[in-house]
Amino acid sequence: MDSNFSLVTHSMKTRPITSIKLGHSFLTKAMMEMFPKNFENFDHMRNLCLVYMKLTPLCNLRCVMCGQRGDKGILKGPVGVEEAKKIPPFEVYKKFVDDVAPTRPTFYLWGGEPFMYPHLFELIRHIRSRGMLATVNTNGTFLEKYAEQIVRDQWDGLFVSLDGFEEVNDAIRGKGSYQNVVRGFEALNREKERQKSDLPFLSVVTTVTNKNYEYLADLATAMKDFKLAWHIFNLGTYTNDNIVAAQKKLMKERFDTDIDCLEAYNTGYNTGIDGKKLHSILDALHGRDFGHPMVTVPTLNPEKTHEYYAELETPVRNHCPVPWCQCNVNYDGSVHFCADYPDYVLGNLKEQSISEIYNGERANKFRRELHNAPDGMFPGCLRCYQNMLFGKKVKGF
Ligand SMILES: C[S@@+](CC[C@H](N)C(=O)[O-])C[C@H]1O[C@@H](n2cnc3c(N)ncnc32)[C@H](O)[C@@H]1O
Ligand code: SF4
Repeated sequence: MDSNFSLVTHSMKTRPITSIKLGHSFLTKAMMEMFPKNFENFDHMRNLCLVYMKLTPLCNLRCVMCGQRGDKGILKGPVGVEEAKKIPPFEVYKKFVDDVAPTRPTFYLWGGEPFMYPHLFELIRHIRSRGMLATVNTNGTFLEKYAEQIVRDQWDGLFVSLDGFEEVNDAIRGKGSYQNVVRGFEALNREKERQKSDLPFLSVVTTVTNKNYEYLADLATAMKDFKLAWHIFNLGTYTNDNIVAAQKKLMKERFDTDIDCLEAYNTGYNTGIDGKKLHSILDALHGRDFGHPMVTVPTLNPEKTHEYYAELETPVRNHCPVPWCQCNVNYDGSVHFCADYPDYVLGNLKEQSISEIYNGERANKFRRELHNAPDGMFPGCLRCYQNMLFGKKVKGF
């Protein structure tokens, strides 16, 4: 199976500068796993290689498994609209981009639906003007409308979410959502040809659940014609009552913090997945030539696919490096480490600079506690997507 690094080697063929920047981010992450972790009296900004920005709590879809807007989502209903009032003025993000520019991190912009953030195009123009990569994770609804501008502004990459071929996808993500993405890809490819551009790289991200795992091949086959750079199969973020209880206790005792984000992933969409069947489906996909790499996150020992879904308390990755090289900005300007669990706030960009926040006492406390925890992880890290992407492989998995 392709490793995550195959994204870099693939893009090297078409766009060397982009892949060098992307490679820099992957390599910094890899180094963080190998070298001793620093705490006090260290400028952590030096190692910042990946910035996630959740630009808005708003979204036009209600995907069932989504921890924000899905069945158990913490931002569904009127909460999202209320929360959107906390979005900082654009100047706050402009300064943030300027402050991180010296170390050239890669930007990953998401939401909610990032196209519902009013300054998306301005923000990307600013990131790119400072020589950094700007990638966007989107549900694809607005791609057709903005294709011309996206190509003109030379966005580096689009991670577009699709969870199945039309019927399967629409049962999860809402009626019409599959065709919206298809029209978006067609429009972008037309524009790329017309403007003679390699950018943006187009990719699909598929979240595996018990509602789609048997039908992944139909989607992969349908995507063959869209000139994708890669197709990522995200095995999914799941948790259960025991893990939530253990994490709640830990966060209260060590950080005096009440958490509610992890519970949103206690959806049950992992139950009933036949690991053997899923493995053989993924294996067949990896063995076929779709014209672009198929990447599974996390790559697993085939024998262990069953454990990933049925034994959520069994670790498959540990020693998460995120607090030493990544930062996440939430829609209200607050900064945190864990992309899907913004409960423990390090500080807010409306009040402090990123360097004060990232080198501050709250950040160092989190680093210290995580480093000293058994196997460098907390219970809540067990199926966290960031840990699945960048954590250390547990032997046998
Ligand atoms: C929360 S969405 C935000 C960006 C945009 N609205 C979209 O759908 O792409 C980010 C990604 O998380 C994925 N996702 C949603 N629920 C998930 C879950 N329970 N586990 C893992 N990934 C999930 C989505 O499919 C999407 O690819
Ligand atoms: S489109 Fe994205 S943010 Fe919106 S509900 Fe679906 S996964 Fe969640």
